Amino acid sequence: MKIDHLGIAVRSLAEAERLYTEVLGLPVTHREVLERDAVSTAFISLGDTHIELLEPTREDSPVGRFLSQRGEGVHHVAIEVQDVAAILARSRAAGFRLVDEAPRSGAGGTRVAFLHPRSTQGVLIEFVERTR
Ligand code: CO
Repeated sequence: MKIDHLGIAVRSLAEAERLYTEVLGLPVTHREVLERDAVSTAFISLGDTHIELLEPTREDSPVGRFLSQRGEGVHHVAIEVQDVAAILARSRAAGFRLVDEAPRSGAGGTRVAFLHPRSTQGVLIEFVERTR
């Protein structure tokens, strides 16, 4: 297991990308608009992990509300796992509060599920299964 990516909520992808691309010379390896979550994403490759920049496409969306309530900043930590469904079942059995009752599709053809930050020390945790 490892950190698959850190999700950062931003107001502007173009502005947020500048540090990583112009200054650090890192590549944007994937862009995707997730209609269901109302976000535009840009994944920046950083060693064996990624930064996921998230710009909401609507204010009335989870990331839009996060920005208006808390401002820009770290939004979630994503952990790569072998089997999201199994980890989700284990989380449920251990009493953790789930955002997603079942795995769903995430960016780049992944399977993902989130745990509620209220049961994880204030950190929104995403489990990611890469179906290569
Ligand atoms: Co993510």
